[in-house]
This record gives sequence, C-alpha cells and structure tokens, in this order.
Amino acid sequence: MKFFVTGGAGFIGSAFVRLLLGSERPSLVVNFDKLTYAGNLENLAPVADDKRYRFVHGDICDAALVNKTIAETTPDVIVHFAAESHVDRSILSPAPVFETNLRGTFTMLEAARTNKTPKFLHVSTDEVYGSIPAPHDADEDYPLRASSPYSASKAGSDLLALSYFVTYGMPVMVTRASNNYGPYQFPEKLIPLFVTNAFAGETLPVYGDGMQVRDWIHVEDHCDALWHVLALGARDGDVFNVSAHNEVPNRDVTAAILRATGRGQELIRHVTDRPGHDRRYALDASKLRATGWAPRWTFEDGLAATVAWYRAHEDWWQAVKSGAYRDYYTRMYGDRLRTATP
Ligand code: NAD
Ligand code: TYD
Repeated sequence: MKFFVTGGAGFIGSAFVRLLLGSERPSLVVNFDKLTYAGNLENLAPVADDKRYRFVHGDICDAALVNKTIAETTPDVIVHFAAESHVDRSILSPAPVFETNLRGTFTMLEAARTNKTPKFLHVSTDEVYGSIPAPHDADEDYPLRASSPYSASKAGSDLLALSYFVTYGMPVMVTRASNNYGPYQFPEKLIPLFVTNAFAGETLPVYGDGMQVRDWIHVEDHCDALWHVLALGARDGDVFNVSAHNEVPNRDVTAAILRATGRGQELIRHVTDRPGHDRRYALDASKLRATGWAPRWTFEDGLAATVAWYRAHEDWWQAVKSGAYRDYYTRMYGDRLRTATP
C-alpha cells in the first residue's frame, strides 16, 4: 500500500511513519509536512534512509502542491495528522490554528476528492467533546462541545471530514484519541515539559489546583489503533474513540514524574489556570475494543519508558528547547511563575 501522511515530522505522525516503515506494509510512505516549530526531521532519523520513504516539504493549505503531490504519488490512503496541536498556543495566537486545522483539512479533503483517493483517515481528538462530567465517559455519539480555539478547530475539521462522506460518499474515517505521551513529544505538552524541566531542576507550572483529569495513551498504542482501524475494513463514515482508559489527575502525573526523575515537590508551582480549561477528559473506546484492538502499555510502564527516553535523548530536547522555544516559554509562563504559589 502507498501511504500519504500529513504532519509526519511531528510527535504522533513520526511515530506512525516509523511504525509503517518498521513493517512490510507500505511500498511508499510520503510525509508531507510544513516543518513548523513542532515538526522535526530528527524524529524520522531511524527511517530516513528507507527507500520507501519520501519527504515533501509543504503546507497543507497549498492546494496546488498538495494536488500535485497526490496526483504524482497516487496514495491508497491519506492519514491526516498535520495540525496546530497545542491548546495554550491556540489561546495565545488562534489564527494559525484556524488556518491549518480548518482550511488545511478542507484542502486535503478537496485534493482527496479530486484525486479519488481510496481512503482518508482524519486524526481527530477527544477534545472535541469538551469537558466530560464524572462519572460519564464520552462514546462516539456524545455531543461535541469544544472549549478552546484548538478543540473548536478540531471539531470543525472532524465534522467537515464526515460531511465529505455524507455529501460526496467519500471514503472517510475519523479517530478521536485521548492525550498521547511517549518519545519525541514536543516539550510544550504536560509530560515532556515536566520531565525535561525536572531533569534541568526547573519549576513545574501546574495550572490551578492540578485536579484536572486527562485520559493518557502511549503514542505507540494510538498508532497501532490507527493501523488497526485501517486494516479492519471499517465502514466509510465510521468514527472510533481511541483510549487506553488511564484517567489520571495532573497532580498525580506530576508526582509520578518527580519520583521518576528523582526530584522533590519543591519544584512544583501552582500557576494561574488556563482560560476555558477543560476539567476532565474520559473516553469510552468500547467500539474499538470490540474489534479486537487493545492497548499494550500500562500508564506506569509507559511513563517510566518515556522518562528513560528523555534521559537518554538530552541532545534532542536541549536542541528543541533553545531559541524560539525560550521566547515562547517566557511569554507563556513568565508572569504566571512570578505570581505562583509553591
Ligand atoms: P505535533 O504538533 O507534534 O505535530 C504537528 C505536525 O504537523 C508537525 O510536524 C508540523 O510541522 C505539521 N504541520 C503543522 N501545520 C502544518 C501545515 N500547515 N502543513 C503541513 N504540516 C503542518 O502534533 P501531534 O501531537 O503529533 O498531533 C498530531 C495530530 O494528532 C493532530 O491532528 C492532533 O490534533 C491529533 N491528536 C493529538 C493528540 C495529542 O495528545 N498530542 C491527541 C489526539 C489527537
Ligand atoms: P496538555 O499536555 O497541554 O494537553 P491538553 O491541554 O491538550 O489536554 O495539558 C495536559 C493537562 O496538563 C491539562 O489539564 C493542562 C495541564 N498543564 C499544566 O498544568 N501545566 C502545563 O504547563 C501544561 C503544558 C499543561
């Protein structure tokens, strides 16, 4: 099969490309990526020399380049990861989020329609459901109630993708995964930020009371689920939640990171909360589980392996955390840390 992956230089996209090229499955893997601050070709170093791998540097909003690349490579499936993926950045600066997540997804769908691509997998998120009050878990029919510019753009692109199935009969599927963690994650998200700060002896900025709950899944389990959905021969227009059912409050994640990095509680700072912060994410993934998929990682083992990966790859994260990252960090956390409570 020939795969066309957007955003393959990012955290999850690169894990998916590495998974594909670690098997006999693909004859070609095209990675179409703009290389924003979050895109990093180092993430693909393990597969860069594979003859089946091709990198195209481009913007998914560039319809001419997207069309030309799809027409030339005639993929059997498009797996669409490319997005502005960080809630905090979407609050600071929403314009790129709407450009890439909405207009970019529209461009990809139009290109797939024009070129009659046989399968389009849209990678969505549990954040489209908004905050889910306990004790409920959101199944695929739960109402979409996105809270942030990021999640609203993902809800819009998710519905747009499904509309191409309903309206044009296009072979679209949507997956909605919970919070991912694992190697090569950009250290703006909770786990890699706190792990690398802890290694460096820097403070850990916990938003508000730290009792917000996220449902964690190892990135390899997410990618395996995407492959499973593609291999399943699932119906067009189908939606699958992807979760390993690890609902953990941020406080407990922070404590586990401190234990794993050998640091103490004195690094914790409770800072001003994120505006519109969703209190709880919790997915019901029984539809996917009923098809035979199951996660392989427990949260304890996955977190330990992730901390070990960051310990062994200090060059990777030190390089990522230099330059423009420092400006971002000051803009995001500077004032909050000055007024924080231990
Ligand atoms: P990421 O920020 O690590 O990577 C995004 C990638 O997309 C980068 O390589 C970037 O260069 C590329 N990109 C951004 N704008 C582009 C554009 N206009 N044209 C081409 N490439 C562009 O993101 P991630 O965490 O790997 O997330 C990937 C996808 O999975 C996103 O769609 C996200 O919404 C979804 N998702 C993420 C999570 C999570 O916990 N990280 C959970 C569920 C779903
Ligand atoms: P994040 O990794 O940004 O993912 P998302 O907002 O998409 O779920 O954040 C995970 C949780 O951690 C969320 O409740 C916000 C919280 N958080 C902090 O408390 N401090 C931080 O510095 C960051 C980045 C996140």
